Amino acid sequence: MAQSDDRGTGERALVTGAAGFVGGHLWRRLLGDGVEAVGLDMVPSRRGIPEGARFLQVDIRDGEAVRRAIAEVRPTVVYHLAAQASVVVSMRDPVGDVEANVIGSLQLARAAMEHGARRFVFFSTGGALFGAPEVIPIAEDYPAQPESVYGASKLAAERYLALVTRGSDTELSVVRPGNIYGPWQDPHGEAGVVAIFAQRMLANEDCTIYGDGGQLRDYVYVEDVVDAAVRAASHEAATCNIGTGTPTSTRRVFDVIATNVGYERPPILAPERAGDIKQIAQDATKARALWGWAPQVAFEDGIARTVEFFRTQRA
Ligand SMILES: NC(=O)c1ccc[n+]([C@@H]2O[C@H](COP(=O)([O-])OP(=O)(O)OC[C@H]3O[C@@H](n4cnc5c(N)ncnc54)[C@H](O)[C@@H]3O)[C@@H](O)[C@H]2O)c1
Repeated sequence: MAQSDDRGTGERALVTGAAGFVGGHLWRRLLGDGVEAVGLDMVPSRRGIPEGARFLQVDIRDGEAVRRAIAEVRPTVVYHLAAQASVVVSMRDPVGDVEANVIGSLQLARAAMEHGARRFVFFSTGGALFGAPEVIPIAEDYPAQPESVYGASKLAAERYLALVTRGSDTELSVVRPGNIYGPWQDPHGEAGVVAIFAQRMLANEDCTIYGDGGQLRDYVYVEDVVDAAVRAASHEAATCNIGTGTPTSTRRVFDVIATNVGYERPPILAPERAGDIKQIAQDATKARALWGWAPQVAFEDGIARTVEFFRTQRA
């Protein structure tokens, strides 16, 4: 595969999903590092466009538009975060989910390979690939058994991307994050419990816990995930879990945010939602060994920063 003539003169990055939560952080981090980083998303960015940066409004399901965007940017690295990222929506519209997460990802990778990208960093999931593991934290080689269309499409994309990039000059790194939280997460979705609780507690509204509050998740701060993405592009190409390895219960999430906010209402307890898994946490030993990555932001600290962000947003 031909390589870009401009290799070596500096990195050109394309960040897909740049209007979203994690992509928005990653895009700004790269720009801050002096990387020529172009953002791409199918919707305009609610955070706006950083000064001097370029943003392309493209739907990755549109193959022709994807090829035009890649030909224009000729990225050396593609950070692919654009996704239909909702488990609930994936069950309601499986075809749409596959179109975005599998076909869209492949169209992007094929175009990036044609234009000599050296690395394709794919954001998969650490939580939705494995069903309900008996023992946590789990390593990357734990048998995949997705229980949602979203998990299945991420797994399929991982596998197709590995096949199409095999033997080419475009190396594939796969990032499998746990539950990401932090500033700018959408508090209006059905996922993202930290953003939802923070927003509701600051408004002194009721917060609902589904089940007994004992469900365990691996909460990882968004800046730590962004750091992992940067390392996934610059270190050895690999598939790595990105999590703290420490499971946190929903009840503890509630309590830590409540303490930060000074919220005094008890949670509303509602029946468990179908498909909610009991426990998941990622063992990130491999990311530490290959990418030199380790989480830097402790849960209490990350929560304090997140609450502060939502407090400022309200003011
Ligand atoms: N947030 C988490 O806890 C978490 C955990 C594991 C993995 N991930 C993965 O990380 C990535 C980023 O997640 P996020 O939380 O920032 O999600 P997000 O929903 O905030 O951002 C995703 C972005 O992708 C865009 N998008 C969706 N379909 C598109 C299409 N067809 N064409 C172009 N853009 C499209 C959306 O408009 C959105 O801005 C996703 O791939 C997600 O699956 C997220």
